[in-house]
Amino acid sequence: MTKDKFLIKGLAGEKKLNGKIVVGGAKNAILPVMSSAVLFSDEVKFENVPDIEDVKRMSELLEKLGAKTKKVSKHSWKIDAKKIKSSELDYEISKRLRAAVILIGPRLARYGSVDFPHPGGCVIGARPIDIFLEAFKKMGAKVAVEEKKYHIEVAKGKKLKGAEIFFKIQSVTATETVMMAGVLAEGKTVIRNAAIEPEIVSLAEYLVSCGAKITGAGTLTIEIIGGELLKSEGRIYKTIPDRIEAGSFLILGALCANNLEIKNCRPNDLNILIESLKDSGVPIEVGNDFIKIKKNKSVQNSSFKSFNVKTHEYPGFPTDLQAPISIFLTQATGESIIFETIFENRLNYIQDVIKMGANVKIWDTHRMMITGPTALKGKELDGPDIRAGLAYIIASLVADGESVINNIYYIDRGYESIENRLRTIGADIKRIKE
Ligand code: EPZ
Repeated sequence: MTKDKFLIKGLAGEKKLNGKIVVGGAKNAILPVMSSAVLFSDEVKFENVPDIEDVKRMSELLEKLGAKTKKVSKHSWKIDAKKIKSSELDYEISKRLRAAVILIGPRLARYGSVDFPHPGGCVIGARPIDIFLEAFKKMGAKVAVEEKKYHIEVAKGKKLKGAEIFFKIQSVTATETVMMAGVLAEGKTVIRNAAIEPEIVSLAEYLVSCGAKITGAGTLTIEIIGGELLKSEGRIYKTIPDRIEAGSFLILGALCANNLEIKNCRPNDLNILIESLKDSGVPIEVGNDFIKIKKNKSVQNSSFKSFNVKTHEYPGFPTDLQAPISIFLTQATGESIIFETIFENRLNYIQDVIKMGANVKIWDTHRMMITGPTALKGKELDGPDIRAGLAYIIASLVADGESVINNIYYIDRGYESIENRLRTIGADIKRIKE
């Protein structure tokens, strides 16, 4: 974990950023697709892969299982998981990368056993895995909870069996891992109340193109007919654009840019954010693969109207954009109620924003009320999770004066060389190597 910091000079509310910024491949699309390599009898290739820490951690996890991973170029990888020997997900990496849980299904379905610690990741909640464990039990596996890890296995010589599974919560990674387990299980698996995020559709489309029998991805009911190992036969997965990164740049542009074009994105994945910002008064133009903030210089942030945000499973307001949009709402005029319904500790970051000058009433671990506009002052900040880290960059750029953001490993987990990309549109942000 690097101790690097970001040093940012605020624009004090002026809209000086300009130009074009290209959206990278989606972290939350490539992590499940990398995990799917375990389902293949041949090598798999990926492109438009973001050059971020979480991708490196996932490749390390796969290597420790016995797979061969190779970074072919900055944004392309290949993985050969023919010879997975170990059943153990590396303890240290799994504690830091919640997405390690996605590997459980493929490893269990192919080899009949898997061992892993209680997963970690960002400190945005307890991050339970009860939905995963219930699903695998329904598929005929035995789950043993040991002191520091879980051991899941199917009876010797047996395979996972397809089952009818109802998710009491629309869990994204549980949907992904169980869908992948179903690809090699015996018979049919039906997942009801599945998550419907675009990343799940992208994963399913790729697997189907390589021989999987999956229908219904992107709807509440996914059906998987189990079969043989998949074959990529040279098919290359092209990572879909990161909708959370695109949304974060859009929010930054609304507050700090005169003209900004956000390129290589999928506006359709962000309708709720785009509509909310348009209604608030942000001058936005939407194309099929770009979003533009236009002639925004003369529009004061205080002229933006406040609005309420309730995070919700897709296509509702993404919890991963709750911190960034809260920064926007500290600058809009009026009272905004933020209701974070997905995670119980995802408002913690706001304490540092209050220190910068925001007017916020915290009601409980899920709800707060922001009253704007308030001027923000540069401060020293410690980001608790990937998305709050990006929100701090936005707050620091809106603020008057200098800010320091510590432990930026979190930001590097989800955003590729963010300081260089923001500098190209005029942001004064430097990485201080410790
Ligand atoms: C995925 O996490 C994303 N991560 C998260 O993005 C995102 O915030 C989240 O979905 C919600 O959209 C990846 O895709 C790698 P969940 P995931 O399971 O799957 C509860 C980022 O910054 N739950 O959909 O872990 C859980 O506690 C990250 O990119 C159970 O109760 O989220 C939460 O309250 C942060 N039991 C709710 O479901 C379970 O077994 C939704 O979580 C599983 C989850």
